[in-house]
Amino acid sequence: MTNGAELFLQALNRKAKFMAPGARANVESNSELCCWLLDPLARWAEAAYGGEVFDFAARGYAQYCYGVAKLQKEYESKGAYSPETMPEIMTEVYENEGEMLPYMWAAILIYAFWPSMIGHLAMFRDEFLRKLPTGAKVLEVASGHGVLSLMAAEERSDIQIEGVDISAPAVAVANRLLAVSGHAGRVRFSVSDALSLNGSSCNGKYHGIISAMLAEHLPNPVPLFHAISRRVPPDGKVFFSTALESPQRDHVFEYNFESQPLQMAENAGLRVTRLVSDSGIVATGSRFLPRATAMILQSR
Ligand SMILES: C[S@@+](CC[C@H](N)C(=O)[O-])C[C@H]1O[C@@H](n2cnc3c(N)ncnc32)[C@H](O)[C@@H]1O
Repeated sequence: MTNGAELFLQALNRKAKFMAPGARANVESNSELCCWLLDPLARWAEAAYGGEVFDFAARGYAQYCYGVAKLQKEYESKGAYSPETMPEIMTEVYENEGEMLPYMWAAILIYAFWPSMIGHLAMFRDEFLRKLPTGAKVLEVASGHGVLSLMAAEERSDIQIEGVDISAPAVAVANRLLAVSGHAGRVRFSVSDALSLNGSSCNGKYHGIISAMLAEHLPNPVPLFHAISRRVPPDGKVFFSTALESPQRDHVFEYNFESQPLQMAENAGLRVTRLVSDSGIVATGSRFLPRATAMILQSR
């Protein structure tokens, strides 16, 4: 195991012992891919926030996992998501630094620690980043912590990336990591609603669009697919992902079937060329199965 991965895993062992073995097992069985993410992440995290960041991230991850488990239980008994209202989510989550900081560490660590997210990371690197055309201009919507955009810059020294997120505290995290990453000349983060998608680079088109774990945060994800479709040229690629049957206080759209995001993409003029959908762990007899789906989309 590399040092970067160890720094995060040992912090988990200190701050959330109960969750450490599962995370370690996932990292060990996907070690090359997980270290691809965790090594640069540990470097940037420590340079931006100091050595105490690992314990902070581990606590954020644990808090997030407990929250998810609690809401999954409620979902089983209620039979539907019961999110907060959008104005509440804006003020209490997206604009609330105290919420967003730990949440953002959890949001990136699940890619390495959760079995249901590892296929997303593989698809993101191998089927999206490594297949973008040379010199690609890339847009990430809901860039959150910014780490997917930073990994894009780390993997591909020829591309330029613009990340937008509705949350100012999330963009502040992304900018802090960007400042120490060595990619400041090629990556830009700003606060914006994903649905506006009105950046001007590349004549309004992007060879690559990343929309990871955003659709379930929108009251209606359909306009997102149309906005993506309008912005991707015929030789472009989209990495899209979303959560199914996975309640969270800020998950306002409930997907139950893989065919739902797939059809939304197709109806917006996109073609699905790869799809992966993996489940989390639930108690036997549960009526819902939390899953995360990722797709590579192209224009039709
Ligand atoms: C679960 S996080 C995903 C972060 C990152 N894309 C990832 O995959 O880890 C969801 C993000 O969506 C952002 N978000 C929610 N609604 C948005 C909107 N309408 N426009 C832009 N960002 C939005 C939140 O601020 C948050 O950073």
